[in-house]
Amino acid sequence: MLGAGGASGRRIVDRALAEGHEVTAFARQPSSLEIDHSHLTAARGDVLAPETLEATMPGQDAVVWAVGGHDLLRTLLHGQRRQRRLCADGTANVLRAMRSADVPRFLCQSSWGVGDSHGRAPAHFRVIVFRTLLRAELADKEAQERLVRASDRQWTIVRPSRLTDDPATGRYRAGPGLPFSVRAHVPRADVADLLVRELSERRFVRETVEVTL
Ligand SMILES: NC(=O)c1ccc[n+]([C@@H]2O[C@H](COP(=O)([O-])OP(=O)(O)OC[C@H]3O[C@@H](n4cnc5c(N)ncnc54)[C@H](OP(=O)(O)O)[C@@H]3O)[C@@H](O)[C@H]2O)c1
Repeated sequence: MLGAGGASGRRIVDRALAEGHEVTAFARQPSSLEIDHSHLTAARGDVLAPETLEATMPGQDAVVWAVGGHDLLRTLLHGQRRQRRLCADGTANVLRAMRSADVPRFLCQSSWGVGDSHGRAPAHFRVIVFRTLLRAELADKEAQERLVRASDRQWTIVRPSRLTDDPATGRYRAGPGLPFSVRAHVPRADVADLLVRELSERRFVRETVEVTL
């Protein structure tokens, strides 16, 4: 689990453990995870430091990506360092390490607004949000998705609408080409449910799907 200490990552780790998976939590600060479980192993690493991925990859069955948090607003508000090519460069490192260690499955949490979903957003939203606040992040994610789709791994790209910290509903919609409104949102816990189900159900191998309430 890459980005295990983040808001989505923690929920994915929780859900995976609840489903009986053995989880390796890959994070820059594993102590931020605050979960103690006999099936959980912590790995300190940075997706921009390939050697940390190479050290963690052997023996894994699948990799789940929930790394991010580098949009303009959040970096300004929280004073975080901009990592302009975090998703693209990080994913290139991940895919290389997966290939070397023969790890077959990659689940990638991307975002609504990337790729063909961009054109399905209302025009004013595209202009006000996508081309301003999220411009650099979406460009990075476009490059990330291209790398994932071109890879020889068994990948699935999941594009959530706006994420919330609300409890899971179990009533989310997931599939390719969903039309979204500007108010579309989905709890991170529901996205975690979709990703963890996908590990065993494999409904969307080599597909890009959107997820929203
Ligand atoms: N927010 C939304 O409404 C929304 C909507 C759709 C999609 N998304 C996407 O969903 C994903 C998860 O978002 P979120 O808000 O739930 O997560 P988040 O809380 O922002 O967590 C992001 C995680 O990425 C980690 N990270 C950042 N740089 C890293 C690096 N170089 N190496 C390893 N880990 C690194 C962070 O670690 P540290 O704790 O060390 O910083 C953090 O744990 C992101 O890709 C985001 O773009 C978000």
